Amino acid sequence: RPGAEQWVPQDGDVDALREAAPGCRGCELWADATQVVFSAGPARARVVVVGEQPGDREDREGAPFVGPAGRVLSDALEAAGIDADRVYSTNAVKHFRFVERGKRRLHKKPGVAHLEACRPWLLAELAAVSPDVVVCLGATAARAVLGHDVRVGEVRGQVLEAEQDAGYRVVVTTHPSAVLRLRGKPEWDAAFAALVEDLGLAT
Ligand code: URA
Ligand code: SF4
Repeated sequence: RPGAEQWVPQDGDVDALREAAPGCRGCELWADATQVVFSAGPARARVVVVGEQPGDREDREGAPFVGPAGRVLSDALEAAGIDADRVYSTNAVKHFRFVERGKRRLHKKPGVAHLEACRPWLLAELAAVSPDVVVCLGATAARAVLGHDVRVGEVRGQVLEAEQDAGYRVVVTTHPSAVLRLRGKPEWDAAFAALVEDLGLAT
């Protein structure tokens, strides 16, 4: 059976999950990536932030949100009054997917099959961390958390209930990479402010 399920320890706490993750062969993405990028932050947290997948920097360093998009995220969390050190952050997909362009490795969006394959890790993390709120950065993260597609533009600014008595509420916002692309442009201020406002729903 494809997918991560057989590698995910049953009822594992975050440490057990992190320890097991490097062994995952739930999809083919492990093969070209440098290493698995699991999560950061306390094993019990009120707020969980879910991104899409590690980027180039994250793949090299083995930690989520250490690159430029991570900087935008931590600035936005701070502006929203959320202590970034108390947030548990992770990704929908734990290995970096990319295409090579000469010496550069360009981010390639994970496919639905990668999302589905990797989802057991995310669900196990959410069960272990037991947050009050899960913030989804972008449509890919939202799909992984909610289990179905949403349009970010339609659901941002709302607090959603997760399915099946998950015990946490869900907030969907734009991915900080989308905000990052507007740096230096007139749209930046409004895009950053909207991200901060959405993150404020998690306080
Ligand atoms: N973007 C993500 O979605 N996750 C990371 O860890 C870094 C950048
Ligand atoms: Fe396993 Fe997820 Fe990595 Fe695929 S991306 S190998 S499912 S950890």
